[in-house]
Amino acid sequence: MVTLKIDGITVQVPEGTTLLQAAQKLGIWIPTLCHHEALTPTGGCRLCVVEIKRDTASQVVSSCVYKVEEGLEVQTATEKIHNIRRCIIELLLAEAPGAKVLRNLARDMGVTPVKRFAPRNELCIACGRCVRACREIVGVSAIDFAKRGYDKLAVSPFYERAEACIGCGTCAEVCPTGAIRLTDIAEGETQLAADGTTVQGPARTIENWKVTLKLKACKECGEAFAPENQLAYFSEKAGLPQDYYDVCRHCRT
Ligand code: SF4
Ligand code: FES
Repeated sequence: MVTLKIDGITVQVPEGTTLLQAAQKLGIWIPTLCHHEALTPTGGCRLCVVEIKRDTASQVVSSCVYKVEEGLEVQTATEKIHNIRRCIIELLLAEAPGAKVLRNLARDMGVTPVKRFAPRNELCIACGRCVRACREIVGVSAIDFAKRGYDKLAVSPFYERAEACIGCGTCAEVCPTGAIRLTDIAEGETQLAADGTTVQGPARTIENWKVTLKLKACKECGEAFAPENQLAYFSEKAGLPQDYYDVCRHCRT
């Protein structure tokens, strides 16, 4: 176990715990964006910064990746930390002014957008949650980043159809800003696909990755419940019989 102090409170946590986890154990709120508990932390957005003190030296670190150390003193809410977080939110707001999560954080932190950063008007803030989820949870790595710095965005390979995408929607589930446009259409409905063709429902489109995939309808109740590609992938991974997903989970039980 490692003993440290966060905002003056002593806490004991197992070795390998991050400062963010230790602070959460004490009920101390630290804002996060790129962090997701199911994914490998990358320390990408820097919103979770805290100040650490060892002897007389102080340092600003990302709490979602920095591991606890014996005797460390951590401050989560100094003026310096507030200013860094406010600056990050201001920059992100310029990138994605439509993102509710950023507007809420800005309101909570007293950030009023000023025009010192060029507006970009995307919803993607390049936090990487979708890319990591696709690789680490789903295991298909259908998407990645394009460009660098301020222009960095999560995209499909070469901006073309993401051939490996199985349409599971995990990316949309973990995206903090709602940047991933996923729509399902029902039986009898039609939709224009990214390649210009007309798609008959039931189908799922994920605009960002330029995919439209057929949804499987349950043989019992007729409800369209998941993309056929996703079910085929799951069956193969789990070694299930080919007809396992002919019925939805409600009709199976
Ligand atoms: S699409 Fe969403 S999850 Fe993916 S990098 Fe952009 S903001 Fe993050
Ligand atoms: S939440 Fe820690 S760097 Fe983004």
